[in-house]
Amino acid sequence: MIGVFDSGVGGLTVLREIHQLLPGYDTVYFGDTARSPYGNLSEQTLQRYALEDAELLLQKGATVIVVACNSASAAAGELLRNKLSVPVFDVSQAPIEAALRATKSKRIGVIGTRATIASGIHGRLLTQADSMCTVFPVATPLLAPLIEERAHRYPEAMRILRRYLRPLKNAHLDTLILGCTHYPIIQKEIERVMGHQVKVISSGTATAEALKQFLEEHGDAEAHCPKNNKEKYFVSGDPEQFQRTANWWLGKKVNVLAAQAHV
Ligand code: DGL
Repeated sequence: MIGVFDSGVGGLTVLREIHQLLPGYDTVYFGDTARSPYGNLSEQTLQRYALEDAELLLQKGATVIVVACNSASAAAGELLRNKLSVPVFDVSQAPIEAALRATKSKRIGVIGTRATIASGIHGRLLTQADSMCTVFPVATPLLAPLIEERAHRYPEAMRILRRYLRPLKNAHLDTLILGCTHYPIIQKEIERVMGHQVKVISSGTATAEALKQFLEEHGDAEAHCPKNNKEKYFVSGDPEQFQRTANWWLGKKVNVLAAQAHV
């Protein structure tokens, strides 16, 4: 079964793409809402949480893990790949190729949590792939909590967004990477502020494509991913609050249960 985790609702933006590209495959999702946001946590704490989240998914039957959180991917992607005996996908690699395809000016912005921006992962991967790239990373730590609290359409939230994006608007980018899986939920608002000349890239589609290709090429792993159209959702915080956002964001009613990732 395909297991997906994030600190909260953000990973649903990746899960939605997985459902679209791999219809029918059973999925299990864990949102660590009791311990979110992840974006201000230290690398060590993120590694511990990521391991616990992945373990919980394995207990629930996951045979492939998708780390649908950039903060956890940057801090623990490699660690999970080394420690777990199942295939692990993370969202930090995914938007790089898409951004390089989209950019003409090679001026690329990245927004994400403090942990993701401090890790420098997008800048490193972009300049490794094309040394002519100039990367403009900006930490936007209030956005994920605003989305988690469904407060992102408040005028105050829009003011925060415009303020965060101001230096990027002044940097004359043509491409902006959403380095946090929560941000596709406000992609339209981000696009409106940045203007039509800036292409906004998220990681969901590219991650789902990588997973699809892997399952096509690895029959043994694919055989452990049943296709009974089953979707399970677990959160460590309040299931009802998560359910409201999930229903709205996925456009269907889902059933959410409580679970703890602590070991
Ligand atoms: N959606 C997550 C990410 O991509 C985490 C956001 C947060 O919990 O701070 O980084």
